[in-house]
Amino acid sequence: MKIAIRYFTKSKKGNTEKLANVVSKALNLEALDVSRDLEEKADKLILINAMYAADIDKEVKEFLTRNRDKIGEVVNMNTSASGSSTWKAVKKTTDKLSIKLSDKEFHCAASWIFINKGLPTAENYRQAENFVLSL
Ligand SMILES: Cc1cc2nc3c(=O)[nH]c(=O)nc-3n(C[C@H](O)[C@H](O)[C@H](O)COP(=O)(O)O)c2cc1C
Repeated sequence: MKIAIRYFTKSKKGNTEKLANVVSKALNLEALDVSRDLEEKADKLILINAMYAADIDKEVKEFLTRNRDKIGEVVNMNTSASGSSTWKAVKKTTDKLSIKLSDKEFHCAASWIFINKGLPTAENYRQAENFVLSL
C-alpha cells in the first residue's frame, strides 16, 4: 500500500509541521508541504492540517483539487485551538471532488497566540504516532 504525507502549516508556531514530523518519523516516510504535488498515486494520503477561521486553508483545498486523480483515500489529521476537528471542512472539499475521506481521523488541541500553551503535549504526539501506525 502506497502512503503519502502532506501538511500545511500557517502560524509561526508551526504546530502542523511538528505533527507532520512525528508522523513522518513513525512511518519512516517524508512529509512534504502541500505545495508539493503527488508524484504517483497514493492509496492513502495522510493530510495534516489545522483549523483557520473555522475552515481549512485554501492551499489545502487547492492541493486536493490538483491531485484528486492520484488520491485513493484521505486520512485527516489536524490541530486547532478549540480542539475541534477539521474533518467536516475537509469532507466538504473531498465530497465536491469525489475523493474518499476515511472516517478514521486524529485531532487534538494546540496552542494559538496566548492560549493552550504547551499543547499538543508529548502524550498527544504519542497518540498521533499510534494512530498512524494503526492505519
Ligand atoms: C489565522 C488563524 C486562524 C485560526 N482560527 C481558528 C479557529 O477558527 N478555530 C480554532 O479552533 N483554532 C483556530 N486557530 C488556531 C489553529 O488552528 C492552531 O493554532 C493550529 O495548531 C495552527 O497550526 P499551525 O501552527 O500549523 O499553523 C487559528 C490560527 C490562526 C493562525
